[in-house]
Amino acid sequence: MRVPLDHWYPLLESRELGRRPLGLERLGRRFVFWRTADGRAHAHDERCPHLGAALSGGTVCDDRLVCPFHGFAFDSGGACRVLPASGRDGTIPQGLAVTSYPVCERHGFVWLWWGARRETVPEPPYFPEFDDAGWRSTTSRVDWPVHYTRAIENQLDVAHLAIVHRTTIGRGGQTRVHGPHVEADATGIKVWTTNTRDDGTPAPSREALAAEAAKRPPTLHFLFPGLWRLTISDSLKNVIAFVPINERLTRYYLRLYHRHRNPLVAKPFEWAMAVSNRFILDQDRRVVVTQTPAVSLDATDDRLVAADRAIVAFRRQLRELLDAR
Ligand code: FES
Ligand SMILES: [Fe+2]
Repeated sequence: MRVPLDHWYPLLESRELGRRPLGLERLGRRFVFWRTADGRAHAHDERCPHLGAALSGGTVCDDRLVCPFHGFAFDSGGACRVLPASGRDGTIPQGLAVTSYPVCERHGFVWLWWGARRETVPEPPYFPEFDDAGWRSTTSRVDWPVHYTRAIENQLDVAHLAIVHRTTIGRGGQTRVHGPHVEADATGIKVWTTNTRDDGTPAPSREALAAEAAKRPPTLHFLFPGLWRLTISDSLKNVIAFVPINERLTRYYLRLYHRHRNPLVAKPFEWAMAVSNRFILDQDRRVVVTQTPAVSLDATDDRLVAADRAIVAFRRQLRELLDAR
């Protein structure tokens, strides 16, 4: 799979990983996630280097991951420490190890560092505003049979709102896209949405849109490699973590942030928002699954227009990051 970036990827929620090893397909390959007794999460290739059994079918014993086939036990760094057939005092062949990956847990996700090992790796990307204790959040997940590039572009696309979502968030016929004003760099992309009805009012200049954008936070903020935030209001935001499973499948971890503190209000509100968000996403899904080619970077025939500025920025930045590897 073309997972281009040396980066932290949130691959599952912390609450999904309990005491038992968990085998998952992510980034186009199979991993096993597990925890040592201190609660720390670890990730290895799922394939046992001995005869290829799935380590996810094994157990954790003495802070080692034990293969279910011949009992080889691997430590959190991946090295084989026990080889039952060779006996207690037997030697373990040098280099007998399973590939392990740097893992950390932040913001309720288990993150895996993909790419070249570095002396020091940066912190996983996130939106610092959510460190504020006033936020409450709830997370749901859905899998789409699409490549993650198409999934992300769909959430940066401001021209589809009044068409695809005409019965929901795009009500009101605001088909005219002004700008959008877009700011992009190697960390991500910010988009300010200023759509209106097509009533003949002259379009604001690019300078006017930029000046307007300077006064308020972006409507959409995307962080590479796959984190997206929609600002609905100061106290209501949606975050999506796009998790590449393989070339044809992307998982969305959809997280709602709000500030309702009273559980009698918060719970029904979260439930209603989850239902509504799923309905809105299903409207997108119907068209996104039909897009060809599957990987947007291959879509050199796409005739992008002015309203697609954010998509253009995404492809350009992604290509640059790819080339910089
Ligand atoms: S296949 Fe894992 S120990 Fe033999
Ligand atoms: Fe949409």
